[in-house]
Amino acid sequence: MEVERFLADRCRAVEFSGIRKYFGLALRAKDPIDLSIGQPDYDAPDAVKDAAATAIRAGRNRYTPTDGLPALREQIRSTLAERHPGWMPVVLIASGVSGGLVLSLLALLNPGDEVAFADPYFVSYRQLVTMLGGKPIAVPSYPDFSFPTGAIEQALTPRTRLLLINSPANPTGRVMPPAEMQAAAELARRRDLLILSDEIYRDLTFDAGPASAADFAPERTILLGGFGKTYGVTGWRLGYVAGPAALIHEMTKMQQYTFVCAPTPFQHAMLTAMRTDVAHHARDYARKRDLVVEGLSDAFDLVRPGGGFYVFPRAPARFADASAFCDAAAERNVFVIPGGIFSSRDTHFRVSFAAPDDALRRGCRILCELAGG
Ligand SMILES: Cc1ncc(COP(=O)(O)O)c(C=O)c1O
Repeated sequence: MEVERFLADRCRAVEFSGIRKYFGLALRAKDPIDLSIGQPDYDAPDAVKDAAATAIRAGRNRYTPTDGLPALREQIRSTLAERHPGWMPVVLIASGVSGGLVLSLLALLNPGDEVAFADPYFVSYRQLVTMLGGKPIAVPSYPDFSFPTGAIEQALTPRTRLLLINSPANPTGRVMPPAEMQAAAELARRRDLLILSDEIYRDLTFDAGPASAADFAPERTILLGGFGKTYGVTGWRLGYVAGPAALIHEMTKMQQYTFVCAPTPFQHAMLTAMRTDVAHHARDYARKRDLVVEGLSDAFDLVRPGGGFYVFPRAPARFADASAFCDAAAERNVFVIPGGIFSSRDTHFRVSFAAPDDALRRGCRILCELAGG
C-alpha cells in the first residue's frame, strides 16, 4: 500500500538534517578524523553518573510534576537570580533545549507568525518554526557574524513575534558582546517582540562572562538553558525554560500533553551536577579553540569563536562551494559540515573542536593542505 499519501503536509515542509550525511560518512570511514560532532568529547563527572544510578535504584523512576522537580527548579531559579539581579523568572524543566524550543513555539506562535534570527543558525530553528506553523526569517550576519539588529529591523513585518538569539552560537561560536545584546534587546522593546534566548553553550564561554538578553530586557526574555553540553550528558535530554510566569504556565500546559515531564532520574542527578564544578571543561575547550584557530588561520578566513566548540571558516574559493570542499575533505578522511546546512549560503564550513588534540592537529593540517591545492 502507498502509505505516503497519508503523510501530513508538514512532513514535506520539514527536511532531514543534512548533518546526518556527514555523520554517516564518518561512521563508515576507517579511523576517521571526525570534526563534525555536535557534542562534547568529555563524559559526565562520576558523581553525576552515581547520582543518576542512585536515583534509579531508589525508585525515582516515575513522573515528576509536569514542570519538573521542585528542588531542581528552585536551584535553577536561584542560580539565575544571582546571575541576573532583579530578574524573577519562573522555571520549567524541559526535555533538552529542543523540548524547551518546542514548548516555547507551541505556546507563542499562531500560523504564519514570524520568528527572526541570524543566518547562519542552529539547524532546528528553521525546521521547528516551520513544523509549528510559523515562518522563519533568517537574516544574514556574514562576514563577522555580529547580530544583524539593523537588518532584522528592516525585515520585520507586523507578523514578526519573536527574536531568536543564540549566544554562544552554533555554528559560528560567536559570543555577542554586551552592547550588541543591548541593541537586540532595545529592538525587541521598540518593536514589541519577545526574545527567545538559546544559551545552551553558556557554560562553555572562553573570554568574558557572556551577556544575556535577561540583563537587558528581562520582562520579555525567555531563556533556554541546557545541561547536555555542560555536563556531557546530551543523551539524558535535559534543559530548562525560564521566563515570565504567564508564559511558562502555558508551556507547562503544552508539556502536560507532549513530553509529560523530563526524565525523572536525570532530573535528580542534575541537583548533584549543579553543585559540581566543571569549569575545567571551558578552560580545556578554550585551549582547543586556540589550537584550531592557530592551525587554520594561515589558510582560511575565520572569526575567532568566543564559546561553544565550533569554528566556521570560509571555504577556499577554488572549490565550487563549501559542500564540494567538505566532500574533498571527507575523501581525505576529515569530516566537517558544509555551511549550507546552517545557512542560505554554502560558503563556509563548520569544524567542531570537541575532539582529541591529536585529531584536531591532524585535521587542521589536512584541511590546510586541501586549501593550498
Ligand atoms: C544552539 C543549540 N540549541 C539547542 C540544541 C539542542 O540541545 P538539546 O540536546 O539540549 O536538545 C543544540 C544542540 O546541538 C544547539 O546547538
